[in-house]
Amino acid sequence: MSTVSLTLDTQELAQHYERISAAHQFKGGQMLIEELAIRPGEKVLDVGSGTGLLAEYVAGLVGPTGAIIGVDPLPLRIALAQAKGRANLSFKVGTADDLREFPEAGFDVVYLNAVFHWLPEKLEPLRQIYRVLKKGGRLGLSTGSKDHPNQLQTIKAQVLAREPYSRYLEASGGGMYRVSADELRSLLSQSGFAVQKLEVRPHVRYHPSPQAAIEFAEASSFGNFLGHLPEALRTAAREEIKRELEQFRTPEGIRREGGRIIAIAIRS
Ligand SMILES: C[S@@+](CC[C@H](N)C(=O)[O-])C[C@H]1O[C@@H](n2cnc3c(N)ncnc32)[C@H](O)[C@@H]1O
Repeated sequence: MSTVSLTLDTQELAQHYERISAAHQFKGGQMLIEELAIRPGEKVLDVGSGTGLLAEYVAGLVGPTGAIIGVDPLPLRIALAQAKGRANLSFKVGTADDLREFPEAGFDVVYLNAVFHWLPEKLEPLRQIYRVLKKGGRLGLSTGSKDHPNQLQTIKAQVLAREPYSRYLEASGGGMYRVSADELRSLLSQSGFAVQKLEVRPHVRYHPSPQAAIEFAEASSFGNFLGHLPEALRTAAREEIKRELEQFRTPEGIRREGGRIIAIAIRS
């Protein structure tokens, strides 16, 4: 089985993500950060920081006596993050399954906002996070629930099941590796964490148009949304998905609703 591609990102996708995530992932991320009750002076690691909007917000919470580091495998996104100059905020290119450069028990808090579903393998990242957290340190996860796909994912799966798209094998189910709440609970326990909170919350988003919904999906998937298709078929698939999204038009825009798992776990 192939995996999520980290080579499909472009300057345009990264910049678009920076603009649109302010109204989407950033807002969800603030809720996760609230659950983590981050305090001044704490050391924080943001795994899969993207363009760094949430990390910049956390830099304000930890203040001058604390620090936050963001890691992300996409160099174009890390470059946008690094432009957010603050003394207590830094970014590096890196992946969740290789945190060896960070010292053992160096962080009070590690969080992954809208990232966990992109990791093909979960246990190694969790074990590494466990290693870099201090005893009693908090892990925060906000991730899409496998049991609650949103309309865009469902429509995409239906379109891609048809000819000619079905001839091309997608990297993974929807280009993502979502888990259920039960699976996440089990993964956290297996890697040594004590689960403090784990719940699925309804997650509603509105996009101004079907086109905007697709642009959001492409930017937030760093090109993976339809990235396995040849360019000509990608254009055709986008048109089919857009047509079908029209059925979810409301006065507020194209409505999509899925479920998001919020988990807080403690390093024992
Ligand atoms: C939807 S974005 C979320 C970005 C950011 N956390 C936010 O809240 O805006 C998903 C991020 O996961 C990152 N990602 C994908 N695979 C990863 C991996 N193996 N390790 C760490 N991050 C990864 C991507 O590069 C991308 O920036």
